[in-house]
Amino acid sequence: MADLGALASEASTCPRCDLALTRTQVVFGDGDPRADLLLVGEGPGADEDRLGVPFVGRSGQLLTRLVEEEVGLGRDRCYTTNIVKCRTPGNRDPKPHEAAACAPWLEGQLDLIAPRVVVTFGNVATRRLLGTKEGITTLRGRTHPWRGVTLVPTFHPAAALRGGPATVAAMREDLGRARVALERGRPEGRAGDREQGR
Ligand code: URA
Repeated sequence: MADLGALASEASTCPRCDLALTRTQVVFGDGDPRADLLLVGEGPGADEDRLGVPFVGRSGQLLTRLVEEEVGLGRDRCYTTNIVKCRTPGNRDPKPHEAAACAPWLEGQLDLIAPRVVVTFGNVATRRLLGTKEGITTLRGRTHPWRGVTLVPTFHPAAALRGGPATVAAMREDLGRARVALERGRPEGRAGDREQGR
């Protein structure tokens, strides 16, 4: 697939799991198709399902503010997406077979965007990408080398809305790690990976 627009258009009619039966629309992703920073959440909620854009509800507003303040990037300079691209009924956690059915879309996004840093929000996204059953409380607080990029796990902003200032402070610290990783330049093995001008 040559570009993200073509991939998004293919995904828009995705029939790969039963979430296709209950979604309003596929929420593919949003932002800079050449972003260095990829933000990965769990799955669209009601607002996202309605509007077709990831992280636009209350947790999205917190995420946007924290990324701006701690990384120094607006959402238009990152790319934002989710593990599953369709809303789950009642916002339950996506089932493993739904995440697996959806994985080729995220794989395509990773290939085409080729980010240098990936931030995962919450257990579902972090466990899925790192391939572990460990919890976010254990996995956050450090960076993880992952497929030649730097993966930075942090709490889900919905957890921060419930958990209050300590959770927000932890997210700020983690996003600071993402900023440092972005400033540090390309991880080993990625130099020359990109077209000119990146
Ligand atoms: N929560 C998520 O994980 N993703 C969204 O897009 C919105 C809320």
